Amino acid sequence: MNIIIFGGTGDLSSRKLLPALFRLYKSSKLNNNLSENKIFGIGSSSLSQKKYHELVKSGLKNYLDKKEYDESLLNKFLKTVSYLQIDFNQPSHFENLKVLNGNKNLFYLAVSPTFYKTIAKNLKAHKLINSESAIVVEKPIGEDFESSVEINQSLASFFKENQIFRIDHYLGKEAVQNLLALRFGNILFEKVWSNIAIDHVQITVSETLGLENRGSYYDNAGAIKDMLQNHLLQILCLVAMEPPTSIDSESLRDEKLKVLRSLRLLSTDNLPKSCVIGQYAEGAIEGKAKIAYADEAGVSENSNTETFIALKAFIDNWRWSGVPFFLRTGKRMAEKRSEIVVQFKGVPHNIFNQSSAQKHNQLIIQLQPEESIKLKIMIKEPSASGFNLQELPLDLFFNEYYEDDYLDAYERLLLDAMSGKSSLFMRRDEVEQSWVFIDSLINAIKETKLKLDKYNAGSWGPSNADILIANHGSRWNNEE
Ligand code: BG6
Repeated sequence: MNIIIFGGTGDLSSRKLLPALFRLYKSSKLNNNLSENKIFGIGSSSLSQKKYHELVKSGLKNYLDKKEYDESLLNKFLKTVSYLQIDFNQPSHFENLKVLNGNKNLFYLAVSPTFYKTIAKNLKAHKLINSESAIVVEKPIGEDFESSVEINQSLASFFKENQIFRIDHYLGKEAVQNLLALRFGNILFEKVWSNIAIDHVQITVSETLGLENRGSYYDNAGAIKDMLQNHLLQILCLVAMEPPTSIDSESLRDEKLKVLRSLRLLSTDNLPKSCVIGQYAEGAIEGKAKIAYADEAGVSENSNTETFIALKAFIDNWRWSGVPFFLRTGKRMAEKRSEIVVQFKGVPHNIFNQSSAQKHNQLIIQLQPEESIKLKIMIKEPSASGFNLQELPLDLFFNEYYEDDYLDAYERLLLDAMSGKSSLFMRRDEVEQSWVFIDSLINAIKETKLKLDKYNAGSWGPSNADILIANHGSRWNNEE
């Protein structure tokens, strides 16, 4: 199968796609027969093959772990990689794709969604689409409901739904999929997985990274469109969905869609008490000074783009009625961490010493940087006298059981797309429905003129985000 990457000189290609392809090549998961598997990087600038190879090489040097980097294998890998120059606005440039051999082509669109239609149209015009072709599109798909429908509609005029792979790389993470195993492979949690026993849920995806040369993209997107609309909502779906009838792609995605449909929309009435947005000011992370968002390259003057959002969301259905889901994501925060905290309610009647602090159970599923599941339970503190309770964790650290060599998200998703497996990709209706929710949020922010709080780089975000959850009688799990 040919893999054709539109945006082959871009940041995503060098940070994620080419390293993933190299790792697959290294572990012989790509069919390493050079005549069958070719990778084409597409860009608008005029580059010789040699220059492109140098670019790929320096990207791989940068983004692969030292132990993964293997110069002689890399030179072999580069023999599968070619560069093609295409300016998307020049239909005649698509002639360059006639070098594609065989019928099986996977087109990877790592470019702005504004080009999706033009690219698909030109692929069709050059007879490059057939029943074995696949197209992978990156998020965000559109910038609101209307534009997402338009993009989906135009893709649908050239490809069938089962040929379109809308990527959300969080779904390719091992730990995210483990959520399904935890919830639907164990009876233990399912019975308490509802408003009967759960007080609230926290989903945090914090990053220490700033803009990484993506200033102009990010300044248009912000944390809401870059992270919340996709990664956080997808995690929320996996936490909140009903048990699917099977693990097949349609059953899974049907259930996720129902969650998205049940999300309570935001309005000028409920927004002020449900949402905090922020933008990072200068600060320090691990002792290194970081500049303010406003001073980053590519950011417009007086930009109001949010680099942080905390949101209290509700899912209006039987299972989750009244249970707040606190979602939080931001750039330049204190730590890189993705985790889900399920906070259970207290016992209905305390039979123990009132003075011994009885805490409520917590299930903490950490997705990054370490994959772990931690269940905090109360035990009796060993002592001769008295009956005091103490909270201790039941811990499961995945790296104690498995070598840390499983596929990373992009490796898995590329393989799945190549073999036509859609479960870990977003279906059209899911994407559109998540925009319905996000549109309500963005409109309510605009209409209420919600204040953009500043937070120092290296902090856990604006203090108002702490107040948001404190008003529910709780706090973010920042400590461990
Ligand atoms: C991407 C966002 O989708 O996810 C980036 O566009 C973000 O802004 C990245 O940095 C985070 O992914 P990960 O896998 O590093 O948590």
